Amino acid sequence: MTERAPAAVVDDVLDAVAAAAPEIRDGLPGRRRHIDDTNPSGETVLAADDFADDLLERRLTAVDGVGAYASEERESVVDAGDGVSVTCDPLDGSSNLKSNNPMGTVVGVYDAALPASGRDLVGAAYVLFGPVTTMGAAVDGEATEYLVDDGVRDSLGALTIPDDPTVYGFGGRVPEWPGDFAAYADAVESELKLRYGGAMVADVAQVLTYGGVFAYPALRSAPDGKLRLLFEGAPMGYIVEAAGGRSSDGTRSLLDVDADDLHQRVPVHLGNADLVTRLQSRLD
Ligand code: F6P
Ligand code: MN
Repeated sequence: MTERAPAAVVDDVLDAVAAAAPEIRDGLPGRRRHIDDTNPSGETVLAADDFADDLLERRLTAVDGVGAYASEERESVVDAGDGVSVTCDPLDGSSNLKSNNPMGTVVGVYDAALPASGRDLVGAAYVLFGPVTTMGAAVDGEATEYLVDDGVRDSLGALTIPDDPTVYGFGGRVPEWPGDFAAYADAVESELKLRYGGAMVADVAQVLTYGGVFAYPALRSAPDGKLRLLFEGAPMGYIVEAAGGRSSDGTRSLLDVDADDLHQRVPVHLGNADLVTRLQSRLD
């Protein structure tokens, strides 16, 4: 598709995302209000969502070798010529802006036209806007954590999920959980400590830091869950798997889920391999 090697393009995409991170953070204080709009998934949009989406669209389509940009905030794919396709959740967990809790950005780089399978991912990254700004990225099956300082990423070393898990965080109202997932949650509750903040990036980052399991499962009223496959599930699955963990939609790796629609949702389960395997055997 592209003249440039995908790995070189991924590197430039990660640099561009790191460079945009302080601008996104600086743009947040004045953009905590809702605008009169909903995104293609039917959710209300904050001024900050649109701002981050516009900024990332401009920066990422300008990267040599990026041929397409798609985001949660826009209906269709932006054509940028020949090259890899970049997907973006510009501001993950943006409802946390009101209460001043963590948020993130998620990026996937697919060496294919969209919608594409997670198996076409050649790189993925998240930025975590916490007390400090960090990035978790995976390229070629290797995950790395970075400190993002002044728009530049400095490696903090390999991102590896610890063997001895301690935390879990599950989204969705408990009465909405299907019985088999509720039974799994019961078992996990007696082994791990609840940590749930309502921003996937932050909730997955603590699972990668302390070990454990994150889920936004299928719900009784929403059998495909809440999170989006191309913008959230597959890129985060790619990172967690590169960090030595597992991802699942309940039966298979998130990377093996068929991508039929740009904005399709998927149940998401991410974490230590044995915890995700146990979950899969309950749900199968
Ligand atoms: O992007 C959707 C999102 O904000 C995720 O970051 C998060 O995991 C989830 O929604 C939180 O949903 P809820 O408010 O139902 O816990
Ligand atoms: Mn999100």
